[in-house]
Amino acid sequence: DWTMAGYRDEAIRKIREQVGDKKVICGLSGGVDSSVAAVLIHEAIGDQLTCVFVDHGLLRLNEAEEVVTMFRDNYNIPLIHADESELFLGALEGVSDPEVKRKTIGRLFIDVFQRYASAIEGAEFLAQGTLYPDVIESVSFSGGPSVTIKSHHNVGGLPEKMGLKLVEPLRELFKDEVRALGRELGLPDKFIGRHPFPGPGLAIRCPGEITREKLDILRRADAVFIDQIRRHGLYDEIWQAFVAILPVRTVGVMGDGRTYDFACALRAVTSVDGMTADYYPFTHEFLGETATRIINEVKGINRCTYDITSKPPGTIEWE
Ligand code: XMP
Repeated sequence: DWTMAGYRDEAIRKIREQVGDKKVICGLSGGVDSSVAAVLIHEAIGDQLTCVFVDHGLLRLNEAEEVVTMFRDNYNIPLIHADESELFLGALEGVSDPEVKRKTIGRLFIDVFQRYASAIEGAEFLAQGTLYPDVIESVSFSGGPSVTIKSHHNVGGLPEKMGLKLVEPLRELFKDEVRALGRELGLPDKFIGRHPFPGPGLAIRCPGEITREKLDILRRADAVFIDQIRRHGLYDEIWQAFVAILPVRTVGVMGDGRTYDFACALRAVTSVDGMTADYYPFTHEFLGETATRIINEVKGINRCTYDITSKPPGTIEWE
């Protein structure tokens, strides 16, 4: 009989057999996938594993600190925090095309990762939290023709370039199975249940040009939205929820003054695997309360809209 405990033991056995006494580098993103991969591999080979966390400056509020605390302090996994936000935001200046954003971030991600990883002596393997849908979505889409829908920035081509062999212990799993495996490995429920977060991060939730000002506003608005969702006990029913800051300022009134601030869109969807999605049917009370909180608590936003597009025809992200 197939059980997750059995899968874990088998995965650990395979990792040990593949890796032997060699060193492994794992790119940690803070997401569930790479985290589960890292903890699984750490369980298999202990400190032969070093994690590299590339911080591109496009993470959510407090996210970098949370990741570092969890892995370095709670799990004692050797972790390098590569804080390279200056580099990424500099390169993204003036870029508004979504695919150029992805390619720029992907390219820099590889450069940075490679720079930090090559400082780890004697590493022979590169671990990735690639899932089954990542494997298929980059090849075909809904049984359609073989096209790349979006250039997901799993470090394609990097292993060859660095002369590293790949370790991909989650390659056969869907998201819900990865979560079950994470639970099996003792990761906290709150962490396991985290919504997926795209590699390019907030860059693709900031249509148009990315500025520090917009990112700052976006982070704060997003934190309020997620707080609302948690307070109302809805977090686990939702596949992904986030705010996108729109590249448009609108007129509003606040007290006796006129405001001219950014508009934002709230996005929340249900989904099984991210391939298709429905918008989440919040009550009007919830939406009204959330808009009021965001506009009152986040300086720089004076208008909130709710995105009711399903996938298809929309995508989950705005870019
Ligand atoms: P879309 O927007 O294509 O998103 O409906 C489907 C799922 O994929 C995530 N996503 C990405 N993940 N790099 C990633 O690592 C990307 O470029 C990327 N684009 C979308 C998205 O958050 C959702 O979970």
